[in-house]
Amino acid sequence: MAFRIPARTLWQAPSKLATILRATQAPSLIRRYAVPTVEQQNRTAIVTGSARGIGKAIAFRLARDGYDVCVNDISANQSEAEAVAKEIKSMGRNAIAVTADVSKLQEVQNLVETSVNELGPLNTMVANAGIAQVKALLDLTEQDLKRMFDVNVFGVFNCYTTAAKQMIKQNSGGKLLGAASIVAFKPFALLSHYSASKWAVRGMTQAFAMEMAEHKITVNAYAPGIVGTAMWDLIDEELGKKTGAKKGDTIKRYTSELIALGRTSVPEDVSSTVSFLASKDSDYMTGQTIVIDGGIIFT
Ligand SMILES: NC(=O)c1ccc[n+]([C@@H]2O[C@H](COP(=O)([O-])OP(=O)(O)OC[C@H]3O[C@@H](n4cnc5c(N)ncnc54)[C@H](O)[C@@H]3O)[C@@H](O)[C@H]2O)c1
Repeated sequence: MAFRIPARTLWQAPSKLATILRATQAPSLIRRYAVPTVEQQNRTAIVTGSARGIGKAIAFRLARDGYDVCVNDISANQSEAEAVAKEIKSMGRNAIAVTADVSKLQEVQNLVETSVNELGPLNTMVANAGIAQVKALLDLTEQDLKRMFDVNVFGVFNCYTTAAKQMIKQNSGGKLLGAASIVAFKPFALLSHYSASKWAVRGMTQAFAMEMAEHKITVNAYAPGIVGTAMWDLIDEELGKKTGAKKGDTIKRYTSELIALGRTSVPEDVSSTVSFLASKDSDYMTGQTIVIDGGIIFT
């Protein structure tokens, strides 16, 4: 005679088990329901420029997803970076803060080495650090252009190559992610060299995707629109000086005239997309630059 368990009993079993465990006071077993899945455990990520703004939101989001995080920024933002690492630790993940200027290869090599020594093998590099400058094309100096490309292009190149070499050594694949921008699709006037640097990030992301595929490393970029961070405070102020607009008015005007969804972006709009790009769910994607801009440009 077949022994049958009613379906209702089966689907009720997990909650009944939880009730029994609670009643028998076995908190360590119950707590397992709340921790990240096995796939998410013991992964590590470096997020550059994560003392504030979008990078900080990414660092928190990846920690929530189960990553241990190496928070990076320049020495001027060391205490903010340490505060981010401290907060991640209070969330129950491991974190360190490492100072490095991404435009300097030696410092990026030291960043990756420290992260691997302290947190373990590197799974994801988020090359987020970047700078912006508002200036008319004909006023740009050679130094302006060099500085922009040093941080936004060489910085991403240094992070992609150094992380990729480490991942190849580990022989278990990995994810390289870079900060592009909507200006990597259509430049903004007065942000021309910034726009060009982000086109370079998008191009490099495609090229790296082709060469890294054989190592099971995927390479993608995220392209935010107008995010209310210190970077946009600066852009708003500088554009205002050129047009006579009051502080805060340019971002308000751009938001109402350009953004289909009608609100300025917040860093968490971007970090949720980066979370996807850093997860297993995006394993079959590579070479893409994903726009998260509330509907300014359409790809
Ligand atoms: N804010 C936006 O609207 C927007 C839009 C599109 C793209 N982005 C890109 O997203 C990224 C983050 O932007 P954000 O708005 O958070 O900017 P932000 O200026 O608020 O933060 C950038 C962080 O990067 C750090 N940084 C700068 N140069 C560095 C260097 N050489 N080495 C290490 N760290 C360095 C800064 O100290 C800062 O903490 C940037 O690459 C930016 O270009 C931003």
